[in-house]
Amino acid sequence: PKATKSKLGNLTPLRSQRVRVSGWVHRLRDQKGIIFVVLRDGTGYLQCVLSGTVAQTYEALTLTLESSLELVGTLQPVPEGKTAPGGHELVVDYWRVLGAAPGAEDAFSSRLNEKSDPSILADLRHLVLRGETASAILKLRAALLSSFRGSLVSHDLLEVTPPCLVQTQVEGGATLFTLDYYGQPAFLTQSSQLYLETCLPSLGDVFCVQESFRAENSHTRRHLSEYTHLEAELAFITFEDLMNHIESIICETIGRLLQDPSSAALIKQLNPNFQTPSRPFLRLSYVDAIKWLNEHGIQHEAEDAEGNVIKDEHGNPKMVDHAVGDDIAEAAERRMTDILGTPVFLYGFPAVLKAFYMKKMPKKEGAPDDNHVFTESCDLLMPGVGEIVGGSMRIADMEELLAAYKREGIDASPYYWFTDQRKYGTCEHGGYGLGVERFLAWLANRYTVRECSLYPRWPGRATP
Ligand code: 4AD
Ligand code: MG
Repeated sequence: PKATKSKLGNLTPLRSQRVRVSGWVHRLRDQKGIIFVVLRDGTGYLQCVLSGTVAQTYEALTLTLESSLELVGTLQPVPEGKTAPGGHELVVDYWRVLGAAPGAEDAFSSRLNEKSDPSILADLRHLVLRGETASAILKLRAALLSSFRGSLVSHDLLEVTPPCLVQTQVEGGATLFTLDYYGQPAFLTQSSQLYLETCLPSLGDVFCVQESFRAENSHTRRHLSEYTHLEAELAFITFEDLMNHIESIICETIGRLLQDPSSAALIKQLNPNFQTPSRPFLRLSYVDAIKWLNEHGIQHEAEDAEGNVIKDEHGNPKMVDHAVGDDIAEAAERRMTDILGTPVFLYGFPAVLKAFYMKKMPKKEGAPDDNHVFTESCDLLMPGVGEIVGGSMRIADMEELLAAYKREGIDASPYYWFTDQRKYGTCEHGGYGLGVERFLAWLANRYTVRECSLYPRWPGRATP
């Protein structure tokens, strides 16, 4: 009888039938002349059994891991007492090699495992992707993006695609990748926020999933030079609305993932102890966070006026308490989030620490200095990762924005279109950006965001 062609993930309805499948040799075992091949095609895994004459050919005896094959046979439930992926196996009566792989002497088969040198793993990322963990992370990433889209659309946000080639900075000139654009300077985008803001009057609330680029010389677990940035912008909202919205989107997105059996299984595989965070998320003002850090003895490295770390007589950095106006650095932020053990909204950062476009809270009477001018800004911190979302309300007033450009030393002319938003019918609005790799690192309990990107880029690494 004719064999039905099928992907490995869709085999269950074809039990007891003749099927034709194709894929790569994921595992290989020869047991007394019977060859067991676990085949992989990206949609699933299938145990294939080669016995009798089909196991005695030259191809069968020289078969190697990662070779690509086509096989035809009868799909049978696995015998009692044995296990196989999907609960069935293919009893093969015809098969052929489509592309042989080098086998045991090859770098991939002999040198690659989770303990391999990280630079070898990075060079061979295209082969590492074939592993069960790497492919599970990327499958969860796809499910995560589609769940995010589902949640955002259900909140009436429209997806747009802003440009990557831009002539404006958003998050400070120091981390811009500059390029020559037909003889003009241009940058790779740091954030699509400014473009999203321009969409509000025509499209309403909007979001995008776009690559952002940061030339940060940070070799940390959570920094990439290129990362996937999910950003949203909402009109006619308050700061309170903004934080509630971020919390809803995150919780609904997790809910969607857990409702779907295949993504729920991926979370279970990668992060067996995953627990849905409870609502509402803890909210901690920046000023209270500074107090909290000092009460818990979490200090930071002292710096001189030029920003150089001050060392003691043994050459160790001098550690000091946090003061209002200090940045909460990655190490302190991480320790705080790990101790709290739950998602935390840190809000109300000093304007001196934050980007030019952020809306300021009114200066309190008796505030000692400019370090005490706060913004309607928030970062969402997750245990194990730290900051995964940065958001804020935006300056809606034209004069205030012009003053902000000036204070930051930004030439306002390339921003004319952004400024125009305040000229042609301004509105109270705000938004946020979420680092997809950081969120995934939290969700899948990965040590580094580098595992959460298809081909991660960090300082010095742009291959493969
Ligand atoms: O906090 P950031 O810099 O905020 C913005 O870019 C805003 N303009 C977003 C907005 O309001 N539309 O970046 C937002 C998030 C961070 O919280 C972090 O999760 C992620 O982007 N992120 C990075 N992820 C990986 N590698 C890097 N180098 C990142 N820099 C920021
Ligand atoms: Mg930030």
